[in-house]
Amino acid sequence: MESPFKPDILKGKVALVTGGGSGICFEISTQLGKHGAAVAIMGRRRSILDTAVDALRSQGIRAIGFQGDVRKQEDARRVIESTISHFARLDILVNGAAGNFLVSPEDLSTNGFRTVLDIDSVGTYTMCHEALKYLKKGGSGKDQSTTGGLILNISATLHYTAAWYQIHVSAAKAAVDSITRSLALEWGTDYEIRVNGIAPGPIEGTPGLQKLAPEEMKNKAREYIPLYRLGEKWDIAMAALFLASHAGKYINGATIIVDGGHWLSRPRH
Ligand code: HXC
Repeated sequence: MESPFKPDILKGKVALVTGGGSGICFEISTQLGKHGAAVAIMGRRRSILDTAVDALRSQGIRAIGFQGDVRKQEDARRVIESTISHFARLDILVNGAAGNFLVSPEDLSTNGFRTVLDIDSVGTYTMCHEALKYLKKGGSGKDQSTTGGLILNISATLHYTAAWYQIHVSAAKAAVDSITRSLALEWGTDYEIRVNGIAPGPIEGTPGLQKLAPEEMKNKAREYIPLYRLGEKWDIAMAALFLASHAGKYINGATIIVDGGHWLSRPRH
């Protein structure tokens, strides 16, 4: 689908996208790249990264993949430093790496709960913490920025109410939203870094939906979403572009819900 944004809105910017090799975050990487940014993607699996980087480069995007696990601080640091060595700066950090599976609290071990918090919440914090010095206004990339960078945390809407078999992810994403607000306050004030989030609803063709929503649930979701359809990865990427562009310069601390109204809908009666 054609983008409504001009192709140069992110010209000269460098983005690092965790979990950027697949799903929603691959589309975010693609659209950031198509609008002028150079893109580094971080993920655990080399083969997925290689395929994704090939696909990005074939569209003329300056892209590179770095293997790493956001649960490991040394990986976070190495990948951020490699991004700086390769592209000389960092303007946009997208925290998209996430873990998920359906399980009832009765069957979920403490370690299972902790694992998802480690990836989603602690991983997001670690990436932000390690990236700070580069995202600061005039950060230590070779080019001196005149404004601070942007952090974009990928969240969910599960925790606005409660979601079956998702106690771990709901808790993890609630923490992510809280991190978004705290960093928006502190780093917005101190460094002009904007920190925002996107909370996607059910998005077609993603590992998340394949894993979480069997066919019958998918059909039900269509009935409940006010716009009567699942979202597309493109919808999330367009929100990311808006937030990353100059048009979003006064948006800080917001988690934008992109779900067609799904989370607030109730059956008609
Ligand atoms: C119960 C499970 C489990 C399952 C793992 N665990 N899978 N418990 N049911 N299906 C438990 C394990 O038993 C173990 O606890 C602990 O979690 C760690 O498991 P490991 O397999 O050792 O961990 P690891 O190899 O690091 O894998 C963690 C993972 C990850 C979370 C399963 O591999 C993963 O999520 N991969 C998929 C990524 C993905 O789908 N991303 C898209 C996310 S979509 P014990 O006690 O046994 O040691 C998304 C959308 C959210 O985030 C919003 C939806 C609407």
